[in-house]
Amino acid sequence: MTPFILDELVERARVAAASENPKSALCALLQESLANSDAMADAIAAMDDDEVMMLEDETCSIWTCRFDTEVVFPPHEHCMPVHIAVYRGAEVEVLYHRDPDRLRHVKNCVVAAGEVVSLGPDPIHAVTAEGEEQSHAIHIYEGPLAKVKRSLFDWASGGQIEFTMENFHANMRKKSETEEFR
Ligand SMILES: [Fe+2]
Repeated sequence: MTPFILDELVERARVAAASENPKSALCALLQESLANSDAMADAIAAMDDDEVMMLEDETCSIWTCRFDTEVVFPPHEHCMPVHIAVYRGAEVEVLYHRDPDRLRHVKNCVVAAGEVVSLGPDPIHAVTAEGEEQSHAIHIYEGPLAKVKRSLFDWASGGQIEFTMENFHANMRKKSETEEFR
C-alpha cells in the first residue's frame, strides 16, 4: 500500500499537471513537499522497489526513485520535461550531449536533499547517487513516460538502444568503472 503522504502528493500532482502551467505548478508542489522531507523520505524508503511508478496518465507520470551510490544507470532520454525533488541523500544527474559519433559527457549535477530541479525534454542523463546513503526522490514527468518510444544510449558509441527495463538494467555500471566519476 502506498503511504498516505505519497497518495496525497499524487492527487495534487494530477491537478498540477493538468493546469495551464504544469511546470510551475509541479515545481511549486515539489518545493512545498520539501517541508516534509523526513516523512517523504520515510515513505519512499517504505516502497517495495527502488523505483515505483505510482501513477501514469496522459498528463504526467509519477515515480519514487531510490538510487545507489555505487551503481550508475545508463544514459537515456525522457522526451518530456521532468521535475525532481530529493528528500534524503543526493542524486547525481550525469549530463551528456549527443555528438554525431559519440556521447559527450558535459557535467555532473548533484541534486542534494532539499532541492528541486527540472530537466527539459532534450537532455540525456545517466543517474546515480553520492554520499553515504541511497538517494530518495520523487520524479514527475510531464507525460505518459512508459507509452513514449525513447532510447538508451551506448556508453561508448552513443548508439541508440531501445529503452526497455531489461536493457536499462543490463547497461548499468559500477561507479568505480565509470569514466565520468574519475
Ligand atoms: Fe531519467
